[in-house]
Amino acid sequence: MQTELSKQLGVEHALFGFTPFPAVAAAISRAGGFGVLGAVRYTDPDDLKRDLDWIEAHAEGRPYGLDVVMPAKKVEGVTEADVEAMIPEGHRRFVEDTLAKYGVPELAEGEASGWRITGWMEQVARTQLDVAFDYPIRLLANALGSPPADVIRRAHDRGVLVAALAGSARHARKHKDAGIDIVVAQGYEAGGHTGEIASMVLTPEVVEAVDPLPVLAAGGIGSGQQVAAALALGAQGVWTGSIWLTTTEADLHSPALTRKLLAAGSGDTVRSRALTGKPARQLRTEWTDAWDDPAGPGTLPMPLQGLLVAEAVSRIQKYEVEPLLGTPVGQIVGRMTSESSVQAVFDDLTRGFERAVDRINRIAGRSGPS
Ligand SMILES: Cc1cc2nc3c(=O)[nH]c(=O)nc-3n(C[C@H](O)[C@H](O)[C@H](O)COP(=O)(O)O)c2cc1C
Repeated sequence: MQTELSKQLGVEHALFGFTPFPAVAAAISRAGGFGVLGAVRYTDPDDLKRDLDWIEAHAEGRPYGLDVVMPAKKVEGVTEADVEAMIPEGHRRFVEDTLAKYGVPELAEGEASGWRITGWMEQVARTQLDVAFDYPIRLLANALGSPPADVIRRAHDRGVLVAALAGSARHARKHKDAGIDIVVAQGYEAGGHTGEIASMVLTPEVVEAVDPLPVLAAGGIGSGQQVAAALALGAQGVWTGSIWLTTTEADLHSPALTRKLLAAGSGDTVRSRALTGKPARQLRTEWTDAWDDPAGPGTLPMPLQGLLVAEAVSRIQKYEVEPLLGTPVGQIVGRMTSESSVQAVFDDLTRGFERAVDRINRIAGRSGPS
């Protein structure tokens, strides 16, 4: 599955996989795709160093990339404490009351919340970049807007391609004007922060809007048929996220959460502001229902909401409080019905792609191997 972009990056298949887990990123790259490590959770540069060392040792020299979350709007000189001070008391009470209703235990004395928002602050993303540019990353992706001009320059000086996620053609055009190299057109079905346009409509719109820049289609891709559809829509590859969450290499730290993901159908997600303050697709739970209930206080804007719920989310995850337990995941969760290795998921995608191409060739009256 070769496109101009996969050739440029030196990968066998134009299959990109976003993942928060180094073992998954390395396995995707080893399988012949392009693994991208999500860096947002690394607030300590030494942790990121350790995990990039691990990828270096396990990717067998295959290319990989890094994804950071640099918000488009820059907030100068604001610390986490300043943001904390802006959270209304009523919202804090709502969090505590909801946790109490489900009997969610406290974290141990001095135990840090494992889920933090500071990775979304530009200062923190910059420390992640300082680390990452010492490694031979081939791609830098940004989730919330185009990266700042100096970051794009720094990446280009090192021969690193820059990608940015877009949920609309307008958004994609802005990325092109900012000088990025690849647009990830991410549809409504996707896990994580998403816009309101479904991939079937979004991908060709973005392809047209940013031509000749390469576009990767994201959102709802979990089979080779869907990969073929994305390429038919003009994408130069696909960018996947959710399907790797239930691989054996993923380290969710929660058997209960894995069970919930495997049991969920494609209608069991919701696009909710509960986690970060911006609409993000995730498993629908009694926690997201509480935040989306008009009788509640409603969510706060980013980054306040993330800071408000960070400890609560850690407590829910640590104690695996099932009715509240969730994660960002897309509608493709309905296809994730058994745990399997990254290699097995990858093989399923590439074989399904070949079958889809054969089928289309037959329909088009062409025979022979695809
Ligand atoms: C658990 C999870 C966390 C995510 N976190 C990020 C992130 O930190 N940065 C980012 O650019 N995209 C993030 N995304 C979105 C992915 O990059 C990707 O666009 C999306 O998963 C594609 O849609 P799919 O989930 O249907 O495959 C996340 C997705 C998931 C499932």
